[in-house]
Amino acid sequence: MTDSKDKTRFEQRDAAIERIAAEVGVSAQRGRRFAELTSLRVGGSIDWVISPETEERAAAVVHELDTAGVGWRALGSGSNVLAGDGDHHYVVLSLKEMKGEVTFAGELVKVSAGYSLPRLCIEVARQGLSGIEGLGGIPGTVGGALWMNAGAFGHEIGTVTDTVRVAREGRVVEIPGSSVKWYYRHTSFEEGSLLLGGTLRLQREDPEKILARMEDAKTRRLATQPHGARSAGCFFKNPPAQSIGTGKIIDEMGMKGTRRGSAVVSPIHANFIVTEGENALAEDALALAEEIRERVKREQGIDLEYEVELWRADEPDQPEESGSPSGQPVGGPADLPADLLEKEKY
Ligand code: EPU
Repeated sequence: MTDSKDKTRFEQRDAAIERIAAEVGVSAQRGRRFAELTSLRVGGSIDWVISPETEERAAAVVHELDTAGVGWRALGSGSNVLAGDGDHHYVVLSLKEMKGEVTFAGELVKVSAGYSLPRLCIEVARQGLSGIEGLGGIPGTVGGALWMNAGAFGHEIGTVTDTVRVAREGRVVEIPGSSVKWYYRHTSFEEGSLLLGGTLRLQREDPEKILARMEDAKTRRLATQPHGARSAGCFFKNPPAQSIGTGKIIDEMGMKGTRRGSAVVSPIHANFIVTEGENALAEDALALAEEIRERVKREQGIDLEYEVELWRADEPDQPEESGSPSGQPVGGPADLPADLLEKEKY
């Protein structure tokens, strides 16, 4: 393919994105980097970041992007994503501005995907509503938590989700929570679908008791997990059918503090990889993660599965001839080894 053909395709795509953003009324920015948008603070340039502020506009914009064959991926607070260091030739739909207001109706709590999960946990606890207090310290958005069925300290968001709002054909559609499969740290939501928000069904309880449990979870988290460090939470899932968790396995192999360039196995919790320095690299975090996986496989015979999402860069290095098929994001998992791609989400 010639350079000028590539250039023309990019220009056509860019013109389509500008038109769609103007028509739907959403902000579209260039020149952003994943290093600014993810908690690991690594990752390369993003062609476009689109930031809808309402569920309706988010639904409309993805429909238009799909129709125009422009690939996109949804990003919340970027606290569970390792994005590759190269250039990402797709639209990142940043949902942090899609916060809206939390609304309460008895034991039902309606909230948009961009809302901060820790903030929601505090608000529902103050209202005397129990069911998500264990999730209080997870630094993510509600959408991210729903997408991956976030869990901690005995609570999982899927178990209290009454309905979920998703984008369908440009509209906001509500589906029952019971129609979603809520697995350990993943769900039946598929790439190419967009989560807009949810309604949780919680339980009435004394606010003091809920807040005390939240405080307890916070204390335990602060004692056992790194805070203030640049991480994506637990890097790997705990292996099924094992009585021992991944953190303990890695710890017992003596890998706390192991370094690959700008990435280190946290000395506090061995299932956390933290990055350091101004110009930290995704490549370092990934090399370290792979070193861990290889050692755990060799020494324990266990195949660790990634909990963080791996988003690749550089492929395709130009828009597809006819755009990406049916709105599937063109950014899948990384400039990464093929065996890493055998994950349910991909
Ligand atoms: N442990 C060690 N060394 C370590 C880490 C842990 O010996 O480096 C030991 C602990 O002392 C404890 C046991 O391993 O006896 C379990 O550790 P912990 O309570 O920290 O639980 P975990 O299984 O490592 C899970 C979730 C966390 C969640 C906590 C608390 C996964 C992969 N991790 O960690 O979730 O916050 O329980 O509920 O399921 C995340 O999803 O990103 C995450 C951090």
